[in-house]
Amino acid sequence: MRITVGRKAHFNAAHRLHNPNWTDQENKDFYGLCNSPNYHGHNYDLHVKVKGEVNEASGYLIDLKILKDIIRDEVEDAFDHKNLNLDVPEFRNLIPTAENIAAVIWRKINKRLPTERNFDLTVLLYETERNYVEYTGE
Ligand code: NI
Repeated sequence: MRITVGRKAHFNAAHRLHNPNWTDQENKDFYGLCNSPNYHGHNYDLHVKVKGEVNEASGYLIDLKILKDIIRDEVEDAFDHKNLNLDVPEFRNLIPTAENIAAVIWRKINKRLPTERNFDLTVLLYETERNYVEYTGE
């Protein structure tokens, strides 16, 4: 029986979308307000989904306490109330779009999951209430 369990989390962070290989005008034209030089913030909502085989003995797919701790360590402690461009090493040379943030989160969480369980991890990152990206590790 393959089943999915999930957990929601939240963090606030600032960012600026800017491609150093483009001119300032090109960046402004493309990213608009998201290119504002002095950064801007988002209230990010994160949905983390883990799919796999339920353990017959425990009846659990994964202990949600474990997933909660992984998300706290890898995402909340690392990103909450941070400037993603300046404070988070993963974005030193990577533009912190929702797409790239979701992929970074996926990699950080995935490396903490036990490989022998063959879990499929999905990360949904809401940058606003209406806009989200989904990454499944492809
Ligand atoms: Ni933004």
